[in-house]
Amino acid sequence: MSSIYDVVVIGAGPGGYVAAIRCAQLGLKTACVDEWINHQGESSLGGTCLNVGCIPSKALLESSYLYQQANSEFDQHGISVSSLKMDVKAMQARKDQVVSDLTQGIQTLFKANKVVSIHGRAKITAVDTIEISSRETRKKIDELKTKKIIIATGSSPVRLQQAPLENDCIIDSAGALELTEVPETLGIIGAGAIGLELGSVWSRLGSRVTMIEAMQKFLPMADKKLVALAQRSLKKQSLDIRLNARLVSAEVKNRQVQVVYEDKSGEQKIAFDKLIIAVGRKPNSDRVFGEELGIEKDERSFILVNDHCRTSVPNIYAIGDVVRGPMLAHKAMEEGVMVAETIAGNVAEVNYALIPSVIYTHPEIAWAGKTEDECKAAGIKVNVGSFPFVANGRARAMNESEGLVKIIADAETDRVLGVNIFSAQASELIAQAVLMMEMQATAEDIALTMFAHPTLSETMHEAALSVHGRAIHIKN
Ligand code: FAD
Ligand code: NAI
Repeated sequence: MSSIYDVVVIGAGPGGYVAAIRCAQLGLKTACVDEWINHQGESSLGGTCLNVGCIPSKALLESSYLYQQANSEFDQHGISVSSLKMDVKAMQARKDQVVSDLTQGIQTLFKANKVVSIHGRAKITAVDTIEISSRETRKKIDELKTKKIIIATGSSPVRLQQAPLENDCIIDSAGALELTEVPETLGIIGAGAIGLELGSVWSRLGSRVTMIEAMQKFLPMADKKLVALAQRSLKKQSLDIRLNARLVSAEVKNRQVQVVYEDKSGEQKIAFDKLIIAVGRKPNSDRVFGEELGIEKDERSFILVNDHCRTSVPNIYAIGDVVRGPMLAHKAMEEGVMVAETIAGNVAEVNYALIPSVIYTHPEIAWAGKTEDECKAAGIKVNVGSFPFVANGRARAMNESEGLVKIIADAETDRVLGVNIFSAQASELIAQAVLMMEMQATAEDIALTMFAHPTLSETMHEAALSVHGRAIHIKN
């Protein structure tokens, strides 16, 4: 028998589960359908982010960072550790527990908000009908009738023909989160967000990491000065990043991955114990509806939507990784809220100009708003202020004096247009930057604000002062 809903959300990743909760909070009868099966063979909410993305990667980054600190930094604090050992299985068990607590937490939130949670594969068969089938048997289990549909089906790793996944030796990001031993040598194809974060994890635990990156420039979307600092820092951490290098082939022979790539000196060969393929992700848009529905996609299979995430079919919306824009959990969540509000008849929007980006290396790289180069290219005259962490008392006390904050302000209006940070806890500091830009603050506003001492945040204050040559703790 058909159930009739106001809204059915397809996908329970950060886009889908947030949309479903907000719809239910707004009084809409809501169901959320998800097909995820975790590596224990159980259904699990939270999508890529909670199961194989943001959360498990940050759990491993934390464990590996602590190990590295104990291994090479604790002695500076007068703490000596004898016979330090890394138990990778225990680290993985902790990570699995963090994931399991959070994915079950979504189930609890669904119950509390009366979101009907359905496990299975959803396919839109008509503008008001969704067929649910078993992921395993492909047999139809149910059919839902609904007034509105939100597609939040996310994305999957891009595969490379010349390096098919094989035998736990050539793996994707999900496989790289599950390793139970530290590989002696680890190759990574792609020096993007995943490559840098997972490369950091395994390098801190002792792997010799080599990254093969096709592009000539490292992190081309971030501020040039900060990228140069980050590149130097990662090199010191023994991450060997080879730019302008194109993968030719990778194959497993005797449990070793033989990689051939081309750089400006010609063909190169290198062997690894494991090879991670991290060359981007593609939208999951191929199995959710048939062409007859008229939901339009672009040439890369992203579902086409307007600024309010409405597709070409008026009662169907799409959010998160399956549509244009950066593939980030917080962007997916905000789109989920915007669509829920829109469906409920409220006015809502997402400020796409202010999506923070963070790469969780150590130090972290974070930015929001426009870079100095983007301002120059747009013909905007700017004043730039910066402040190094080496001159910040708290950073020195923490042994975290590496890095810089850079604030870009409009030369005419003094409004803050962009903030770039390379530092410990940059992921936390960048929230202040987004807030100041959302509130249309000027550099002067920040300069006139009182910051607690001693904190890393004072670098933000000093960088704002430095926009007008008034920094106190550094020569202007
Ligand atoms: P997803 O999280 O991919 O969820 C989609 C859900 O839809 C899945 O549960 C899937 O099972 C379900 N689904 C798909 N098709 C169907 C169907 N037909 N029927 C039923 N269910 C279906 N982003 C950040 O912002 N910060 C980070 O630190 C970060 N770290 C990351 C680390 C890694 C290793 C990876 C891989 C990604 C990371 N990301 C990070 C990206 C982030 O995970 C994604 O941007 C985010 O998960 C996208 O959310 P979503 O809701 O659009 O899709
Ligand atoms: P990415 O787009 O960040 O990086 C992929 C890299 O692979 C690029 O630098 C690209 O030039 C390179 N590449 C592509 N093809 C190649 C080839 N054949 N040979 C060599 N290099 C090649 O994608 P990534 O790292 O896979 O991450 C996917 C998505 O997940 C990203 O869009 C990101 O937004 C999200 N993510 C976000 C994180 C965060 O916010 N901290 C962490 C991890 C992932």
